[in-house]
Amino acid sequence: MDKLKLGVLISGRGSNLQSLIEACADASFPAEIAWVISNVAGAAGLERAGTAGIPASVINHKEFSGIDDFEAAVNGVLAAAGVELVCLAGFMRLLSDGFVNRWHDRLINIHPSLLPAFKGLGVHERVIEAGVRFSGCTVHFVRAATDDGPIIVQAVVAVQAADAPDTLAARVLAEEHNIYPLAVRLIAEGRIKVRNEKVEISGCRPPAGALINPVNPAE
Ligand code: GRF
Repeated sequence: MDKLKLGVLISGRGSNLQSLIEACADASFPAEIAWVISNVAGAAGLERAGTAGIPASVINHKEFSGIDDFEAAVNGVLAAAGVELVCLAGFMRLLSDGFVNRWHDRLINIHPSLLPAFKGLGVHERVIEAGVRFSGCTVHFVRAATDDGPIIVQAVVAVQAADAPDTLAARVLAEEHNIYPLAVRLIAEGRIKVRNEKVEISGCRPPAGALINPVNPAE
């Protein structure tokens, strides 16, 4: 079986990279990480790649005269590695329309909210401030606008009365580590089609029932 070749772009901790590394370690997983690129030297995720024996490059945006040169370097590495799907995993640079269009429907991102709610940074603070009962995370195809694009997989996390941003972030992150490998699997297995900017998934069913927060005290 030919595995889908992934390029993973990071800027920091790399825990989502780690979840992909672990998923790919299973011989039956239909994708493999061909290359990791960090725009930040010393990012913890680089060590994770090294430990797993995955080749990695630092391409520091500050060393380029502009975004076009930076992205040309990134594209050069991705092309040389034969990358077919680019996974943004805590990559903290905005990408140009040119880059996004070049990788149309072959570029995915993970965001720690139920998009299209709570785009951008500082998500968990804003979720708690808004008083919503549920948050979660989303894997989506990347489009030119930030945190925008057809949604592939979401996971829902109940907000607890005692939550602070860090406790909520930790529970959401645990679900990120479930859904990023799931999204990659669905793409690699050819189950995903984008039609009219919506994702259609074949051979998978949605979960039954509804989640209600809080639980009815009569129960
Ligand atoms: C994650 O919360 C992800 O959703 C967001 O950036 C964070 C990256 O964390 N885009 P890590 O580097 O994967 O641990």
